[in-house]
Amino acid sequence: MDIEQQALTLPQTVSDRQMYNVTFKFEQQGLEPVTIENVQPGYSILEVALDNNIELHHNCGMVCACSTCHIYLEKGDEFMPEISDREENFIDRAKNPRINSRLGCQCVLAAGSGKVELVVPDQSLIHGE
Ligand code: FES
Repeated sequence: MDIEQQALTLPQTVSDRQMYNVTFKFEQQGLEPVTIENVQPGYSILEVALDNNIELHHNCGMVCACSTCHIYLEKGDEFMPEISDREENFIDRAKNPRINSRLGCQCVLAAGSGKVELVVPDQSLIHGE
């Protein structure tokens, strides 16, 4: 059996089947969209960004106590936890909040798979880490 045949016969694990494609678009001029493939459930959008060298501030250390990880979620809302009152309160303090605003550290990918698209606000306008 050659390598190609072996790959076809290996059993799929849960993590093989549950994968997301996450596309980051940027408000900042000159930055092209980036799609991160094969992202496993359980990671937050902020973690996916940081793991892939995408700048997204996170002043409070991902505990929903700031608004610097603010993003605009364009696609994939159904894969995220419902927005909490606390998250909403901090979104209200973000720059230019919109109806699809979320905090990147609170958008943890649920079990499943699909496509997620979001826009990262211009990070040069945000002070912090
Ligand atoms: S890092 Fe502070 S709310 Fe997300």
